[in-house]
Amino acid sequence: MRVTAAVLYDVNKPYSVETVELDPPKRGEVLIRVGAAGVCRSDLHFQKGEATIALPAVLGHEGAGTVQAVGEGVSMVKPGDRVILSFVPNCGHCHSCESGRPHLCDEHARTTGKLFDNTSRLHTQAGQDCAHMGKVACFAEYAVVPEMGCVPAPASLDFPALALIGCSVTTGVGAALFNARVQPGDSVAVIGCGGVGLNVLQGARLAGATTIVAVDVKDTALAFAKKFGATHTVNARAENAVARVQALTGGGAHFAFEAYGSGATTKMAVDMLRKRGTAVIVGIAPVGDTAAIEPVVLTRGEKTITGTYYGSAHPRQDMPRIADWVERGRLDVAGLVTRRYALAEINRAYADIETDGVGRGVIVFA
Ligand SMILES: NC(=O)c1ccc[n+]([C@@H]2O[C@H](COP(=O)([O-])OP(=O)(O)OC[C@H]3O[C@@H](n4cnc5c(N)ncnc54)[C@H](O)[C@@H]3O)[C@@H](O)[C@H]2O)c1
Ligand SMILES: [Zn+2]
Ligand SMILES: [Zn+2]
Repeated sequence: MRVTAAVLYDVNKPYSVETVELDPPKRGEVLIRVGAAGVCRSDLHFQKGEATIALPAVLGHEGAGTVQAVGEGVSMVKPGDRVILSFVPNCGHCHSCESGRPHLCDEHARTTGKLFDNTSRLHTQAGQDCAHMGKVACFAEYAVVPEMGCVPAPASLDFPALALIGCSVTTGVGAALFNARVQPGDSVAVIGCGGVGLNVLQGARLAGATTIVAVDVKDTALAFAKKFGATHTVNARAENAVARVQALTGGGAHFAFEAYGSGATTKMAVDMLRKRGTAVIVGIAPVGDTAAIEPVVLTRGEKTITGTYYGSAHPRQDMPRIADWVERGRLDVAGLVTRRYALAEINRAYADIETDGVGRGVIVFA
């Protein structure tokens, strides 16, 4: 079928919003009518060449929509179901899946940019195959995704909220709850308070952290962060963020979350920890970027550095749980959505996250 999609042909080039050919779902795959797609920085990393994907590509990995049709053998969803799309649909039988880490599925990584049979369903009008980001590719009216990537969604949440649960909410809240396991009374610093960092803040609040310091370089983002649990804010351009966090937390934070994506902010996270503290790296730093961390700082302070992917969540189990917390008002997702765009406005949507935009932009489909 012919569908409108935003195609990225080359790094540092705008998206081309054009008609592409989408094949029908094969065995174990599902055709989704996309309802909403979030404007996450991970797509921007590909556009800037800070992360690599085969090009041309249809990006978009923070999505939700309605099942339109199912391929052979699909039993878990049916046409008409509303679903959150997981950007790590998992195979169920690799080492990571078998060891209870489906968000790190090896088979998903092996077939990156393609569906599980290592082929693409998306083709340009000129006949070139397009990569599917995260086996989601939701910067398009329709998407073909693996059945395992379809997570049943509650009826009460709208598509922008469900889309955000598909990446930033699960990533941020999961980083605090499932990876760090923040405890009541802990002190937390969050570096980078965009779509993901705001969810780390509200995850830390949900866990009962008492001192929650938001660190960013935009005063607008810091003011917004107060609505999501920040008890203190620090502008890293205006003051020494490490010294300020150490002062606010009585010698260093129990946890520092890096939620921007760079070597410099990774070092900052390690330096603002107290002894025995843990730096949790959530951001995707550009390939080749490094952090100048002195090993002796780790030794003498018994500090830990860890990464977290997809909030270390079990997407199929934890996304419905997170959606339930949203329904119960324990997490605010509607308040994160500050900008809405049509797909044709995608280049403006990405320009906005680099300027003054706070919260999350969402592409909404008619
Ligand atoms: N681990 C995962 O599974 C996962 C999932 C989604 C996104 N990510 C990554 O998380 C990062 C954040 O994504 P996002 O969508 O929230 O981005 P965003 O653009 O919405 O927010 C980034 C924030 O960082 C701030 N910032 C910029 N430079 C900074 C600095 N030097 N110090 C402190 N703050 C700074 C910006 O002002 C902005 O508020 C990206 O690298 C993204 O790729 C990781
Ligand atoms: Zn994302
Ligand atoms: Zn697997």
